Amino acid sequence: MRYNFPLLLTSILLCFLFPAAAQNPPKPVDSEGHLWWQHAVFYEIYPRSFADSNNDGIGDLNGITSKLDYLKDLGVDAIWISPCFPSPQVDFGYDVSDYENIDPMYGTLADFDTLAASSKKHNVRIILDFVVNHTSDQHKWFLDSKSSKTAEHRDWYIWRDGKGSQPPNNWTSTFGGSAWKFDPTTSQYYYHYFYAAQPDLNWRNPAVKDAMFDVTRWWYKRGVSGFRLDAVDTLYEDPNLKDNPERPGKNAFGDTNQEHKFNTKLPEVHEALRGLRKVTDEYNGVLIGETWTSDIAELNQYYGQDNNELQLPMDFLFTSVNQLSPAEFRKQIAAVNSASGWPTFVISNHDIMRSYDRYGDGQHNDEIAKLMAGLYLTLRGTPIMYYGEEIGMKTNTPTRKEDVKDPIGRTGWPKEKGRDGERTPMQWDESDNAGFSKAAPWLPVPPTAKTHNVADELKDPESILSFYKKLLKLRHTNRELLDGSYVPINQNDQNVLSYLRVYQDQAVLVALNMTGAAQKVNFELKKNGFSSAKSLVATGKSSSSGDVVTLDPYGVFIGQLVR
Ligand code: NOJ
Ligand code: CA
Repeated sequence: MRYNFPLLLTSILLCFLFPAAAQNPPKPVDSEGHLWWQHAVFYEIYPRSFADSNNDGIGDLNGITSKLDYLKDLGVDAIWISPCFPSPQVDFGYDVSDYENIDPMYGTLADFDTLAASSKKHNVRIILDFVVNHTSDQHKWFLDSKSSKTAEHRDWYIWRDGKGSQPPNNWTSTFGGSAWKFDPTTSQYYYHYFYAAQPDLNWRNPAVKDAMFDVTRWWYKRGVSGFRLDAVDTLYEDPNLKDNPERPGKNAFGDTNQEHKFNTKLPEVHEALRGLRKVTDEYNGVLIGETWTSDIAELNQYYGQDNNELQLPMDFLFTSVNQLSPAEFRKQIAAVNSASGWPTFVISNHDIMRSYDRYGDGQHNDEIAKLMAGLYLTLRGTPIMYYGEEIGMKTNTPTRKEDVKDPIGRTGWPKEKGRDGERTPMQWDESDNAGFSKAAPWLPVPPTAKTHNVADELKDPESILSFYKKLLKLRHTNRELLDGSYVPINQNDQNVLSYLRVYQDQAVLVALNMTGAAQKVNFELKKNGFSSAKSLVATGKSSSSGDVVTLDPYGVFIGQLVR
C-alpha cells in the first residue's frame, strides 16, 4: 500500500495544532448508534466518605484508587467524584478556591494521575464535579475582585450598590438569609445564591465563560471523561435585579418564601451549556447536569433543541416519589421516556435522603432496596448510583445540633437538619469505623454498619450487594436491557409495576411487587405469542410458571420471554 504523503503531513500538522479535533468522532458502542455514556452505569463517590488511605478520618483519592477493583467487580463504568479541588470546605468542596488542583486533604495532582491511570486500566471513567455557578470567596479571582472597583476581576462576580442600608433587592439565598453580602472594602454588595462564602460568578462576562471552558479542557487533557455540572439552574440572574415574587409562609431558615423567578432558570443558561458541550464533544465526553426541572418541557430545554446541551440532565422526579406507588412511578417513567433526550435515573445523592429510608417500611427494607435496584437499573436510560446504595446504607441524620457538620443543618436546625445523614462513611466491613479509616471518621458510622457492609454482603448470595452485582451483570450483557424500548404493561395494577424491554423480536419482562404481600400476576403470555418467562434475575422465591409470575413481598422478577 502506498502512503498519501501530503494527506499524512496535513493530519500530523492538524494533530499538533488542534489535538482534540484530531480525535476520532465518538464511536457508537452498538448498532443502534448509542454512545458510551448510554450504556454506562455511573456511580457517585462523595470523596470525604468513601475510603481513607492515610487514616486522618477523611476519605481521599488514594482511597478511591484502592477500591477500583471493588467498583469494577460491582459493575460500575464511570465514577463521578464530588468536588475534590482545593477548598476552605465551607460547603464541603462546593466552594472551590482553585479549579485546577486537588485539595491536600484528598491528595495531590500526582494522586489524581495515579487514579486516572488505574481507572483506565479498570475501564472505569472519571467524571469530575464542576461547580460552575460560584467559587469560594478564597478563590484568587474573588480576592482580586473584592480588592477594588477597578480590579481586573471585578466584573467576574456580581457587585451592586445597596438601596440605602439595604441589599440591592429581596433575593434570598437558598442556604438562608439575604443573597447579598456587603463588603466594606468597596462599599458594595456581592451576590451569592448559596453561602456568602460562595460568591456567584458573572457568566455574562465573556472572560468568565472562557476561563471556565478552559478549566474543562485542562481536565479533559488530564484524562477525565466528563463533568457533573453543579447547580446549573442558578448560572444567570436578571440584570435588572427585579424583586422575586413573595409566597406565603417562611422557610426553615425563617425567610419569607419566594419564587426564584429572576435568579434561576434564565434562558441565557442554554447558551453557556451549548458552549460547554462544544468543548465536551471535542473530547468524546459527557455532561451530567444538576437540573431541578419541574416538568418534561423544562427537562427538554436542558437537552437542547438539537440535543446540543447536556447529554444527561438529571431528572430527580424519582426522588420526589415518596412512597412505593406503581401508578406514580409509571407516570414518572412515561414522562421521562417522552423526553427529547436519553433518560437519566437517580434515586438518591449527597443532598437527598437515601432511598433505603425513603421507601423502607422498617421491616422489609432490604427487600425494598433490591426492589428499587430492580427498577432503576432495568429502565431505558442511564442510572447514576450513589455510593452505599448497593449495600443498603441508611441515612444517619444527627439528633443533636452540636453534632451537625453541614452548614445548612446548623443554620436551619431543627427544621432543616442538613445533609450529614446521607454522607456517612462507606461501610466496608464490620471492623471499627466500618473499615473506612483507622481514625475517627469525620461523620459517625451508623450501627447498621455491622449488618450492612461490603465484606459480609459479598459472602451472602441473598444480600443487597449480591443482587446489585447480578443485576448489573445482566444489564451489561442483555441486549433488551441495553437497547430495548420501554413498554409499560398491566397499567391498572395497583400493586405490581410491570414493563417490558423490547429489542427487535425479543423481550424481557420486569415485574416489581411494591407491596408487603405476596402477589400473583397473570401476564397472558400465551395470548401474546410467548410460552413462558425464563427467570434471569429474581429475589427470594419470586418465579414464573406458564403465564403466571409469583412475587414475594416486595419481590422482583426479571425474565426473558420465550416463544
Ligand atoms: C448542589 C450540590 O449538590 C450541593 O451539595 C451544594 O451544596 C450546592 N450545589 C452548592 O454548590
Ligand atoms: Ca449565578
